[in-house]
Order: sequence, then C-alpha cells, then structure tokens
Amino acid sequence: MAKYYITTPIYYITDKPHIGTAYTTVISDIIARWHRLCGDDVFFLTGTDEHGEKVQKASERAGMQPKEFADTMASKFSSAWKEYNITNDAFIRTTDRQHESIVAEFIKKLYDAGDIYKGEYEGWYCTPDETFLTELQLKDGKCPECGREVKKVKEESYFFRLSKYQDKLLELYDKNPLFISPKFRSGEIINRVKGGLKDISVTRTTIKWGITFPEDSNHTIYVWVDALVNYISALQWPDGGNMRFWPADAHIIGKEIAWFHTVIWPAMLFSAGIDAPKKIFSHGWWTVEGRKMSKSLGNMVDPIELKNKYGVDAIRYYFAREMPFGDDSDFSEKNLIARINGELVDDLGNLVYRSLTLAERFNGRIKGAPELDKGLDVEHIKTLMDNLDTFNAIEEIWSQVRRTNKYINEKQAWKLNGEELGSVIYNILESIRIISVLIGPFMPETAEKIRAQLGVDKQDISHCKFSDFNGRIKKEGHLFNKIEKTQGMNA
Ligand code: MSP
Repeated sequence: MAKYYITTPIYYITDKPHIGTAYTTVISDIIARWHRLCGDDVFFLTGTDEHGEKVQKASERAGMQPKEFADTMASKFSSAWKEYNITNDAFIRTTDRQHESIVAEFIKKLYDAGDIYKGEYEGWYCTPDETFLTELQLKDGKCPECGREVKKVKEESYFFRLSKYQDKLLELYDKNPLFISPKFRSGEIINRVKGGLKDISVTRTTIKWGITFPEDSNHTIYVWVDALVNYISALQWPDGGNMRFWPADAHIIGKEIAWFHTVIWPAMLFSAGIDAPKKIFSHGWWTVEGRKMSKSLGNMVDPIELKNKYGVDAIRYYFAREMPFGDDSDFSEKNLIARINGELVDDLGNLVYRSLTLAERFNGRIKGAPELDKGLDVEHIKTLMDNLDTFNAIEEIWSQVRRTNKYINEKQAWKLNGEELGSVIYNILESIRIISVLIGPFMPETAEKIRAQLGVDKQDISHCKFSDFNGRIKKEGHLFNKIEKTQGMNA
C-alpha cells in the first residue's frame, strides 16, 4: 500500500473561512479522497496558524486574550470543514502544546547546525502577510503582495543562513522538475534563487504572541517558521509513528505563499537534516465578479452561506470545475447557477433519473456487450489526478456523462424492448455505476445517493471497468433541483 501525505496551508485565524480557503481545502480533500479510492494509505492535514503580530492585534481589537480569540476562530474553521465533508485526518493548531515544543526543538536543531546567528533586522514589515520586506521589494511604498501599508522595523533578531542553501535548492529544483508545480510557476522562483539569497530574520523581540526562542527568551520565533513546521509537527517529528508519511507528497497552497514553501521551507529542512517534500502545488486566486476579494471591498464570499443555499456537492463541483489547473479564476454566482442547472441538473441528474426510470420499468435481463466503455479512459483520469489536475479530471469524467446521455438518445432507448433494451440498459447502468465511483471524491453525497439508487456495494477504482451489472434498483427523486434566476444571491 502506497502512502500519500497531502496538506493545505494552515489558515490565519484573523478571518473566518472564505471561498479562497474553502477552495484550497476542498481541492485537497478531493485529492485525498481520490488516493483513498485508489487504495493508498492517506494522511490529510489542515489546520490554523495562530501566532504572530496579526493575531495579537486582532485579539486586542476583539478585547480578548490571544488564546481565547484563537479558540473561537479555530473552531470556525474546523466546523466549516465538517460542513464541507472534508476528511482531514488531523487538524493542527499552532497553539497546540505538542506543536510548540516541536517547533522549539526544530529551531534548536538549526541553531546547533550553526545556521542561526544573532544580528539586527532593519527593514520593512507587512503585518497582514507577516512578511519582512526590503526597500527594493516595496511597490509604491506598499507591500508588493497585498498592496497594504508596511511599517519600518528595527530590532535585534536571530537570522537563518538561507544563503548557504542556494546550491542545494537549485539542485533540488533540477532533480525534481515538478517540485515547484505547476511548471509555469517555477521559472520566476528559480531565477530569484539564482540571483542570490539573503539570510532571513527568524525571531522577533517586539512580538510576544509566539513560541519562545529556546536560545534566548527575549525572542519569539517568527510566525512563518513556526507555521511551516506544522507539516512535520503534525506527524510528531522526529520519531512519531506518523513520520512514515514524510516526505509530504503534496503541499497544496495558493500562489502568493510559494516562496515560503519552495525556498524557505526546504532550506530549513536541509539544515535540520530532513528530506524536502515531493511537490509544492500552487493554485491560482479567485476574484469575485471580476474584482479582488477583500474585506475592505466587502466582497468576501462566505462558503457556509453558499453551501446552505446551493448544497455542498454543487459547490465542491463548482470549485473543481471552474478554476483551470493552476490558473486564476473568477467566482460569479451566475456562473455557479449555470453550472448547477446545466451540468448537475441536466447532464448528471437527468441521466440518472431517466436511466433508472427505464431500468425500473424493464423486467427482462439487464445484460449485454459493453459498448459505452469506449472512450472512457480511467487510466488517463488517474494520471490527471496524480498530477493534481482535478480540473481536467472532472472534465474527463463529464465526457462520460455526456456520452451516456448521447447513447440513450441515439439508441432511442424508449422505443426498444426485449434483449435489445436489456443490453442498452446494461450499458447505461454500468456507465452510471462507474461515474458514481469516479465522482465520489468530488461529490461524495451525490455519489452515495447514486450508489444507493443503483443498489450496488461500495466500490473503489478497481471496479471502474464494465462487468456484470449486479445492482438492485431503488429509484428516488432527482439528484439536483434547478435554481431559478431569482434565487441567486446577487444574480
Ligand atoms: N498562515 C499562512 C499560511 C501558512 S502555511 C505554513 C497563510 N494563511 S491565509 O489564511 O492567508 O491563507 C492563505 C491561503 O488561503 C492561500 O494560500 C490560499 O490557499 C487561500 N486563499 C486565500 N485567498 C484566496 C483567493 N482569493 N483565492 C484562492 N485561494 C486563496 O497565508
């Protein structure tokens, strides 16, 4: 049994979940479920990033102690993910005692390796992004990433010798061309590394809400160092049993945090003598109705409201279907409704409904030669999913949905009877059975409803080929309901 370890970023608790964080989590869940379907031993991790200046300030604004504030906010994430049927095996919080002690042990290891030294940091800091910035990096005096105000910082700090790892990093990228995925994102990062690396500040004296630096208690560990270590602290590094899942097979992240994951994280791991993860996959960003999603614009989309309105599987499907592999995409409710009505109600819902109506009325033998297997390439879908290409994989599955609808029409199934009808129904039901297995990771509730209506046992990827149909049909109502235009939030 192959092991598969997949992670999401751990989310800042200053915001409640929005469609950006929900998207990353859903896509990662789809991949985790897919690997379970393929029989892999999966560990899927998500969690919350709870230390640092930003949280310290937010808790002050809320009139709460940071930990109390963190408890309230972290539970918003864990409960949202439950509502989204997320199957994470663990939920890490950076305020967990175990995490805190592992971070201290980890940084001590870098210190003992001679990779940490004391100095003074003088430069800029973007609190919303918790990022140190040089004068040159600023764009019109603001943070180049989020466009917000930065502040001048001058304080004593310990530094990590990132510069020492330039060659090792370049060697890593060279040996593992897919380490920075998708490939089109790698050029910029590799060029920056080739251009030379500066040592980075890894402790702060002015921020108290953090893990104490073990070598000097006046310092707390920089929140990004603390956060990155979550990927191994959740496995109880150094010798916990779950370390068998390391190296991670995929860290799924948004493109804005690629530098931390593809440069700083592997360099720290090298310093600690730990293998680098296998792949860092950066997905694109959602805009909302053509505009950047932000609190100040007041256009944050709440995933719970969305789900309550349209159903969890519709949103999971939309996430996978709408955003091309690694690219940016625009969220619009109009689009979402169009997909629900066109693809879920008309394509899939109708297919299942009319097929089961045909099958229920038929009392002959459901048997025949496979015809609808042509064009269905499960190996290809597997390859796409191995490449984390959920977008093209769901597209490929949908081709089979369309092909099956077309087959019913072409055969004019409603005009047939006897053996001929038995054979057509056989093909349709086998196709639907396989579709239900393949869509399981994307739309688990819908897959389960179809399986129950077909009256077949639980299945995995090895069952995705045409064989005898052994179900006991129990037709129910429609899988999805049409959304009227006026029902949309802003439609
Ligand atoms: N705490 C850090 C990550 C530490 S990981 C060791 C962080 N947190 S965050 O709350 O800001 O979450 C960032 C992640 O949310 C992004 O990497 C991305 O996965 C997701 N998204 C946030 N906004 C997004 C969009 N508008 N669109 C798509 N995903 C985005 O950074």
